[in-house]
Amino acid sequence: MSRPVAPGRFPRTRMRRARGGEWSRRLVAEARLSAADLILPLFVVEGSGLRQEIPSMPGVHRWSIDRVVEWVGEARALGIPAVAPFPSVDPIRKTADCREAWNPDNLICRAVRAVKAAHPEVGIICDVALDPFNSLGHDGLVEDGRILNDETVEALCRQAVVQAEAGCDVAAPSDMMDGRIGAIRDALDAAGFKDVQILSYAAKYASAFYGPFRDAVGSGAVLKGDKKTYQMDPANGDEALREVALDLEEGADMVMVKPGMPYLDVVRRIKDTFAVPTMVYQVSGEYAMLKAAAGNGWLDNDKALMESLLSFKRAGADGILTYAAVEAARLLRDGVIPTSR
Ligand code: PBG
Repeated sequence: MSRPVAPGRFPRTRMRRARGGEWSRRLVAEARLSAADLILPLFVVEGSGLRQEIPSMPGVHRWSIDRVVEWVGEARALGIPAVAPFPSVDPIRKTADCREAWNPDNLICRAVRAVKAAHPEVGIICDVALDPFNSLGHDGLVEDGRILNDETVEALCRQAVVQAEAGCDVAAPSDMMDGRIGAIRDALDAAGFKDVQILSYAAKYASAFYGPFRDAVGSGAVLKGDKKTYQMDPANGDEALREVALDLEEGADMVMVKPGMPYLDVVRRIKDTFAVPTMVYQVSGEYAMLKAAAGNGWLDNDKALMESLLSFKRAGADGILTYAAVEAARLLRDGVIPTSR
């Protein structure tokens, strides 16, 4: 990165000059946020006419397929380019072999078909991981308490192909198995889906911030143990670069860092090192923290939300998955909160 050249001294240099008026702050703003930067995660559930509250995520809902189509319509009208659906699977369909994950008529595939039919121009990013379908709550197949890598990768390939058949635009493996990007690329190509992109959850940490998501999809209650043998140690940054390098070599089109705000340094390092499309996931726990503080009157919801999203852009992110995507897009549309100042 370049250093400022020959910085002048006070009193000839006054940094506050440029901050003196709104027009000037807007003019010199380095990072900007727009609805085109946002990806809306969706929770879907069986049934019809449903919009279920998720107590740990105020303002976020589980939708039945008929209603999620309307919700995506709202996102689309606000200029949000893509959505990321996650299924809340009926517990009786969760098994240790996770076979529901590659049932072409599973909840997620039906949701993808419905959303694509109603809103063909909205990108659909499908999570590839076994946890919503696993009676043991893990992202991979489990044997004697161990997560099986290679057998899981085979299962993920089947899962990615049925999702592509249903019409998803992007396969987003979030499981952190080794070698899955190359294997999924080959499986998609062999099945005729050479144009389906891969967004790799490349730097996904074993984080405490996923709790509300696990409530939403019902994977937390059944999860035995933790995910530390496959998700990354929060202590590590160099390792994230290595994960990204491998995934790009295996054919990832885009990479992701997850969670978001505690890992802004990782976003910046990845963007600077690889200069590839870099997404960041403002995860459920980050959303819950904001809503809890705002609900208590301790933070200004709108300003804190927009500041958090802008910080991702400043750190180098090209796109942001956030549960507040619709809310943020409305604020941007109404111009209530300037996106940079
Ligand atoms: C699992 C998956 C998780 C999230 C997205 N995909 C949770 C986990 O690893 O347990 C979390 C997203 C969030 O917390 O918002 N494949």
